[in-house]
Amino acid sequence: MNKADPKKFRVKSFGCQMNVYDGERMNEMLVDQGMTRADEGEDADLVVLNTCHIREKAAEKVYSDIGRLRKKDGSTPMIAVAGCVAQAEGKEISRRAPTVDIVVGPQAYHRLPELIARAKTGRKALDTDMPANSKFDVLPVRQKQARPNAFLTVQEGCDKFCTYCVVPYTRGAEISRPWADLIDEAKALVDGGAKEITLLGQNVNAWRGADQSGKDRGLDGLIRALDRISGLERIRYTTSHPNDMTQELIEAHGDVAKLMPYLHLPVQSGSNAILKAMNRSHTTESYLKILQRVRHVRPDIAISGDFIVGFPGESDRDFEDTLEVVRQANYSQAYSFKYSPRPGTPAATMEDQIAPEIMNERLQRLQALLNEQQHAFNRQAVGRTTQALLERKGKLDGQLVGKTPWLQSVHIIAPDLAIGDMVDVDIESAGPNSLAGRLNERIAA
Ligand code: SAH
Ligand code: SF4
Ligand code: F3S
Repeated sequence: MNKADPKKFRVKSFGCQMNVYDGERMNEMLVDQGMTRADEGEDADLVVLNTCHIREKAAEKVYSDIGRLRKKDGSTPMIAVAGCVAQAEGKEISRRAPTVDIVVGPQAYHRLPELIARAKTGRKALDTDMPANSKFDVLPVRQKQARPNAFLTVQEGCDKFCTYCVVPYTRGAEISRPWADLIDEAKALVDGGAKEITLLGQNVNAWRGADQSGKDRGLDGLIRALDRISGLERIRYTTSHPNDMTQELIEAHGDVAKLMPYLHLPVQSGSNAILKAMNRSHTTESYLKILQRVRHVRPDIAISGDFIVGFPGESDRDFEDTLEVVRQANYSQAYSFKYSPRPGTPAATMEDQIAPEIMNERLQRLQALLNEQQHAFNRQAVGRTTQALLERKGKLDGQLVGKTPWLQSVHIIAPDLAIGDMVDVDIESAGPNSLAGRLNERIAA
């Protein structure tokens, strides 16, 4: 290992899809600087831990990971802590973990080369600025993609300030990337082999911008423009906030062929009192109404969501209301979390924090219901022929794993096919988490 002049690096991402996207851009930038990616199992001279601050568990993980980087002889590689923990905890990281050489926030990672140069001279380097000139203007153009499904961050930051959430503090104010830059990046991704692009943003549906003729457009406009890129076959977007779910975006689900029938729309709680305390600024009724309108234009759409159980003051009744919203919404898939008090957020100091045993019990009940719905959704696919984009190798010999339009994983044995192929699959069985089937020979032939 050569900490004084690192040649091999590894970037490890821990967070949401935007964090993964940042990790990919850091990878591309370091390669552009003449460094090489360390292979699996190979020692790296520079390790970038691209962290997440959303819940306590995620944030603490970075410290155990830093500890694990120490070799038997006591040496460590050059260590950079990037991402949302870097933004939130800054200097504290170097105090708690003196082996860390670089701390860099999610809006400053384009300056990694300068920070590495500083760290090479043995000095600590810290950069948690949120500079006005965007990192996107200076990062190298997108390289050839290893996967057929690419991420594209179109919007960053959050102005919503839900009372439990760190994102407005770690990612800053809402910004939309310019139209032309996004069209160019999407084309570069498709030229590099991407068949599917997922548009990302902490509030992706808040994206707004002027198109090539100067007309103000929302996310639906951007999606319609991407729909015209030949070679691109699928478009997705995540995560949306109920308040930014415009009629135009809903209508796009009815008539944009490449827009996949899947909507991730977090509600967080089914109790209006809790939603108010969370500062969500929507109600369960307004949320369910949106689902109704989307299903009206796209009846087969898969609905996904996020839930927090055990928010301060959540009563049994409030929790029952959450179960009721789940029953009415009927999810194809969803994420649920125990409330985690985050330093600096208003909810962390609210009264009536909920005991861990109650949270555990509620989470189990909620997840049992969500799993049941997910399994039922998957079972509907059995006996049907479904398109799948093959994304990775499976565990078995000749097995490939793809995604259906509804974002279900589907396993097939097909030694003659390759990652990136778009195929039709006859679905034969459905588990709670995935489907299995065989290649539809009639269409394939
Ligand atoms: N911007 C998105 C999601 C951001 S974070 C949105 O508004 O939906 C992803 C999810 O993490 C959130 O939807 C929420 O369910 C969960 N989350 C955020 N802060 C949390 C906290 N303090 N404790 C537990 N879960 C949290
Ligand atoms: Fe966090 Fe709320 Fe913003 Fe989502 S909308 S990122 S949950 S503050
Ligand atoms: Fe985590 Fe930051 Fe994403 S806190 S969820 S990596 S925006």
